[in-house]
Amino acid sequence: MAPRRIVLIGGGTARTAPAVIGAFLTAGYGVTVTGRDPGRLHAALAAIPGGEAVQAVIADLAEPADAERAVAATLERWGRVDAMTTLVQAAFLQRPFAETSLADFEALVIGGLYTTYNLARAVLPAMLAAGGGHIVTIAGGSAVDPAPGRALFGATKAAVVTLTKGIARDYKHQGIVANCLVAGGIGTEAARQYLSAADFAAAATPQEFANALVFLASAEGSGINGAAVELNAREVG
Ligand SMILES: NC(=O)c1ccc[n+]([C@@H]2O[C@H](COP(=O)([O-])OP(=O)(O)OC[C@H]3O[C@@H](n4cnc5c(N)ncnc54)[C@H](OP(=O)(O)O)[C@@H]3O)[C@@H](O)[C@H]2O)c1
Repeated sequence: MAPRRIVLIGGGTARTAPAVIGAFLTAGYGVTVTGRDPGRLHAALAAIPGGEAVQAVIADLAEPADAERAVAATLERWGRVDAMTTLVQAAFLQRPFAETSLADFEALVIGGLYTTYNLARAVLPAMLAAGGGHIVTIAGGSAVDPAPGRALFGATKAAVVTLTKGIARDYKHQGIVANCLVAGGIGTEAARQYLSAADFAAAATPQEFANALVFLASAEGSGINGAAVELNAREVG
C-alpha cells in the first residue's frame, strides 16, 4: 500500500532517531532520512523495525547543496514531501561563557541553526508548489531559559525558534504549518548518566518526543502554527 504521507527527516543517526523514524512509520508515513556517514546511517536504520523501507540519503545538512539533494531524492522516491523535521544538532556544549570560543559558537551555529535553515529552505519550494506542508524544527529548553553554561547553545536554539515562527508567518496563507518543538530533557539511555533517577523517570521518553513530532507534522496538528511547543514533562513545576 502506498504511504499516506511522506516525511523527510534530518539526522538518522541521532539518539532519538529510532523512536522518531519508528513513530512516523507506525503512523503510515513513507520516510526519507539523511545522515553524513553511510556506515553509521545504514547501521542505525538496520536496527529499526521496518527500517529497510526507509530511503537513506547521505547528506551533510550543513551544506545547502546537500539539503537540496535530499529534497530532490525524496521527491524522486515518493513523488512528494508532506512534512520535514531535523534531529541534526552539533555536539552539546555546556561551558561558562568566558571559557567559550568563537569556534565553539560557530560549530553550534552550523550544526544546529544552519542545518535547520538549509533543510527548511530546500524543502519549502516543493511544499509551496504542492499547496502546503508541515515543518517541525527542534529546540531545547535553553532557548528560553538557559541553565548555567548554556549561553551559546541556548542562543542558537532561540534562533531556531525565531526562524520557525518567521516561516509560519511568511507562508500561513499558502498552506505551510511550521512549529518548533522545544524539548526539555528526554529520557534517552544516554540521559541516565546525567539525570537523577527521579528526573529520568519524570522526563519525556523518546517515544513521547517522537509522538509530539508526528502530531505536529500531521494534518491533525494544523491548528497549531508558528508556535514554540514545549515538551516539558521533566521541567514542569
Ligand atoms: N537528547 C535530549 O535529551 C534532547 C533534549 C532536548 C532537545 N533535544 C534536541 O532534539 C534533537 C535530537 O537530539 P538527539 O539527542 O537525538 O541528537 P544527537 O544524538 O545529539 O544527534 C545529533 C545528530 O546530528 C548529526 N550532526 C551533528 N553535527 C552535524 C553537522 N554539522 N552536520 C550534519 N549533521 C550533524 C549527527 O549525525 P552524524 O552521525 O553525521 O554525526 C547526529 O545524527 C536535537 O535538536 C537536540 O538538541 C535533545
